[in-house]
Amino acid sequence: MTMNILIVGSGGREHAMAWKIKQSPKLNQLYIAPGNPGTALLGTNLPVPASDFEGLKKATLENQIDLVLVGPEVPLCEGLHDFFAADEQLKNILFVGPKRLGAQLEGSKDFAKEFMFRHQIPTAKYLAITSGNLASGIAFLKTMNSPYVLKADGLAAGKGVLIMDDLQEAEKALKEMLDGQFGAASSKVVIEEFLSGIECSVFVLTDGKDYRILPVAKDYKRIGEGDTGLNTGGMGAISPVSFADEFFLKKVEDRIIRPTVQGLQKDQIPYNGFIFFGLINCGGEPMVIEYNVRMGDPETEAVMLRIKTDFVELLIGAAEGTLAEKSIEIDPRYAAAVMLVAGGYPGPYEKGKIISGLEKVEDSFVFHAGTKSNHDSAFTNGGRVLAVSSYGQSMYEALANSYRNVELIQFEGMYYRKDIGFDL
Ligand code: AMP
Ligand code: GLY
Repeated sequence: MTMNILIVGSGGREHAMAWKIKQSPKLNQLYIAPGNPGTALLGTNLPVPASDFEGLKKATLENQIDLVLVGPEVPLCEGLHDFFAADEQLKNILFVGPKRLGAQLEGSKDFAKEFMFRHQIPTAKYLAITSGNLASGIAFLKTMNSPYVLKADGLAAGKGVLIMDDLQEAEKALKEMLDGQFGAASSKVVIEEFLSGIECSVFVLTDGKDYRILPVAKDYKRIGEGDTGLNTGGMGAISPVSFADEFFLKKVEDRIIRPTVQGLQKDQIPYNGFIFFGLINCGGEPMVIEYNVRMGDPETEAVMLRIKTDFVELLIGAAEGTLAEKSIEIDPRYAAAVMLVAGGYPGPYEKGKIISGLEKVEDSFVFHAGTKSNHDSAFTNGGRVLAVSSYGQSMYEALANSYRNVELIQFEGMYYRKDIGFDL
């Protein structure tokens, strides 16, 4: 039996997932809401934003959707899965993405930290502060060494983490955050011990009992070469990651992945979907920096290339609770994704620049992140515009393949980092 699948979201991550799903013999029709000009080449885009639950219901019923896959965290934290589960007409539709309760692993840093401490999962020491206990927050900061890490408790579109060198600055930042610097998201702030080491992203797909580990990746968040300058949504990704060897990943599974999935069960938190472990390697010991309840972007634009198994089978397993019966096979080749961004990003940037050269790309996959189309032409429509992803027998070969094709693509102000993978 084949199925109709709906992907919710509109970025490079959703395009890469659509590309992978499109290869499945289990697929009948593919829909993406709202999608982008890249996903339109693989399925039918539906003009419904991810926040429009009623619109998604209508689209699901009209198109006889059998399985819904949610890309971004916001609709999950807002309860899209709960909305489907509570609806007579939707409740039996397979759904990949946690309910609101499980999505708190990303939606509330305090919830995630309490969860990790409850289940002895290695992570930085912390204290959660609201305006009612500001004095304890300041006292806690004084017990710590520089640099100081302050995190808005709620979702802040990846911008809610401040790292300050100076104690006075940190105290001031704490007050400003509690005073609403990130709106309601920072009415509670998590103060954390600073961890030093190199980061990587580990992804699992779980049905709440069993899990399958997806290819490990590393992303490059800063705008500038050598990891300098402002944070972005991600400038590129590599998979696999040299330091995340079998030995390291065994520790990750034993100390972090299994305790997390068992912790969800002990806490009676049903969970069908992805868990993204943002990890840091502290002298060979993996520690959790953060949980996300979705796949990473741009990691997905590299990771999808390396999943050999039928991805739809895995999604069905996660949604139905039959993941124990599904195996995952990983392509041993390397994959590299290089993100092309608009000039000025992550600061102010212009949109609507015509994109040329896409038809010249060979041996790479171009995933659309922020584009729009008009009469067969593609235009920039976001800060992150395109991800160019390639295979290689080595990381260098995968990167060389991507960079060769990147040079064929042009738009006014186009910028990309030329040093993805520099630290591996
Ligand atoms: P997050 O939004 O939680 O991913 O944090 C953004 C970035 O801040 C992470 O990718 C890390 O580079 C850094 N970061 C977060 N927490 C810590 C920590 N406790 N120690 C050191 N760096 C951190
Ligand atoms: N690439 C990091 C993220 O998706 O949050």
